Amino acid sequence: MAIRIAPSILAADFARLGEEVRAVEAAGADLIHFDVMDNHYVPNLTVGPLVCAALRPHVRLPIDVHLMVKPVDRIVADFARAGANLISFHPEATEHIDRTIALIRECGCKPGLAFNPATPLAYLDHALEKLDLVLLMSVNPGFGGQQFIGSVLPKIAEVRRRIDATGREIWLEVDGGVKIDNIAEIAARGADTFVAGSAVFGTPDYAATIGEMRARLGVV
Ligand code: DX5
Ligand code: ZN
Repeated sequence: MAIRIAPSILAADFARLGEEVRAVEAAGADLIHFDVMDNHYVPNLTVGPLVCAALRPHVRLPIDVHLMVKPVDRIVADFARAGANLISFHPEATEHIDRTIALIRECGCKPGLAFNPATPLAYLDHALEKLDLVLLMSVNPGFGGQQFIGSVLPKIAEVRRRIDATGREIWLEVDGGVKIDNIAEIAARGADTFVAGSAVFGTPDYAATIGEMRARLGVV
């Protein structure tokens, strides 16, 4: 199974973002995870389409936009134009989940659905077949550097079971508190895409950190 490491720019040096994304691409990252917060759906405020567009020419990697915003639909096309490749949103943040998924695809991006630790997987019942990504939050969204919530581990296994039952290629991404020390345990439950903010940008040698994560996953 292919695995992907997605450094979250939330933990990067915002005064040097272009340099930071180039550095993680050179260090072996597979995606750039781009956390969008609106001080409404989550109690923090980060970056929008302008910053996504500014970063786009700096990397060839796919940009994995994680929308923590409410409402969702108005901003989707702006991110598509800004060079996003994947766009995930939270089901509680939109009135019409199916419409938002279709909108993301119409804009030429891959749609993902994001689940907070206590959000029920029932939202997948009529949506999974249309998704390219399921994003499981292993912290409550809003801040980097939080502790991994262990009760999400069985949820990862349940999503893996559901994805395999579709027979489609749908990525299973885990976001929040992922580190060198727990990445193998998370992968063992069936995750294939790992967001790591502070665990990558908080270390001096990004290549060594990403390399060690791959080593813990048994892929170098
Ligand atoms: C939290 C964000 C995460 C966050 C992860 O709301 O969605 O992507 O940046 O940061 P770490 O890896 O530091 O927990
Ligand atoms: Zn995120």
